[in-house]
Amino acid sequence: MNTEAEVARKRVVVLPGDDAAPEAVGATMDVLRAMKLDIEYIEFPTGEHWVRKETEAKAREAIDNSDSTLFGSTSGKTTAILYLRWGKQTYANVRPCRYLKGFRSPLKNPDNIDYVIVRENLEDAYLGLEGPLEQLAPMKPYSRILRAPIDTSANGRYSIKVITEKNTRQVARFACELAMKRKRAGGKGKVTCTSKYNMLREADEFFRRICEETAKSYPELHYENFIVDDFARRIVQSPHDFDVVVMPNLYGDILSDAAAGTIGGLGVAPSGCYGDHYAYFESVPGTAPDIMGQHIINPTATMLSAAMMLEYLGFSDAAKRFEEAVRKVYAEGRVLTPDQGGNAKTDDFARAVIANL
Ligand code: IPM
Ligand code: MN
Repeated sequence: MNTEAEVARKRVVVLPGDDAAPEAVGATMDVLRAMKLDIEYIEFPTGEHWVRKETEAKAREAIDNSDSTLFGSTSGKTTAILYLRWGKQTYANVRPCRYLKGFRSPLKNPDNIDYVIVRENLEDAYLGLEGPLEQLAPMKPYSRILRAPIDTSANGRYSIKVITEKNTRQVARFACELAMKRKRAGGKGKVTCTSKYNMLREADEFFRRICEETAKSYPELHYENFIVDDFARRIVQSPHDFDVVVMPNLYGDILSDAAAGTIGGLGVAPSGCYGDHYAYFESVPGTAPDIMGQHIINPTATMLSAAMMLEYLGFSDAAKRFEEAVRKVYAEGRVLTPDQGGNAKTDDFARAVIANL
């Protein structure tokens, strides 16, 4: 009847994350289990084990022996995110911004918003290259803006961002391939690159140039650049213009939260981090510590991330069924969590999804 039977048994590590995230992961697991797919789930308990060295090694081994990981958001306690990103080289952080009817969007006309942020996931300002200014003294740093040396004896800190050709090219290629795939499914066939290339004339201009070069190998795609501040306005005023947007790590972190805000919040924003040999899936964080233990966290973001995971693992029909079931719950609008204007609990939402499968 479908091709799912041909997919070999897969193994998925489940790391529930911190604060209220495990409640969302639990609800998502209820749906996954109800789907009875040929997947073995290796479920870890919440948070703390990553702090202890011996159990951290165990979880790493489980990740290494798995096809994917479903990851609950971390507030810092679950440190597996470092291994899942840098250890597994998941360089493309894919954050779809797609409005479904029933999401509580603050925009007047959110229908059909459907674009994807592809955030470079491994470098930029995320390498921990920071410290007291005095560390820079041996470099004798000279500011071309001030046209004067930087006073490294001042009390202050520096932070360095790094953009490499390899990482930029691989994420740019990923974005182009994604735009091609979306185009084949009726998408716009467009890649937008955004960075602060007018001011950061080395790092961000380099990012822009590599993206533009990469896009030249995809003549079927339309390519454009926007400076990141201008782009931030555009996702509020004209979000329908976008298809696939590629950007450096830090802008991607910030703008993916902003993008989530335009369609209904972090509770409905999924994500997946893809490398050449591994991918893991998490909601756009958010661990919602303020509502921890109340069982009212919206599991939609985690569920839509799990659907992305099913697609990645080759369970395409199941991924569509899962998404469709979520879509129906919103279209009906009867069982919604408080962030979306309802009074349903996390588990009520899961049951509604299961009923729609
Ligand atoms: C995200 C999160 C993480 C990030 C944190 C938890 C390190 O904000 O995935 O967007 O900054 O990448
Ligand atoms: Mn973030």
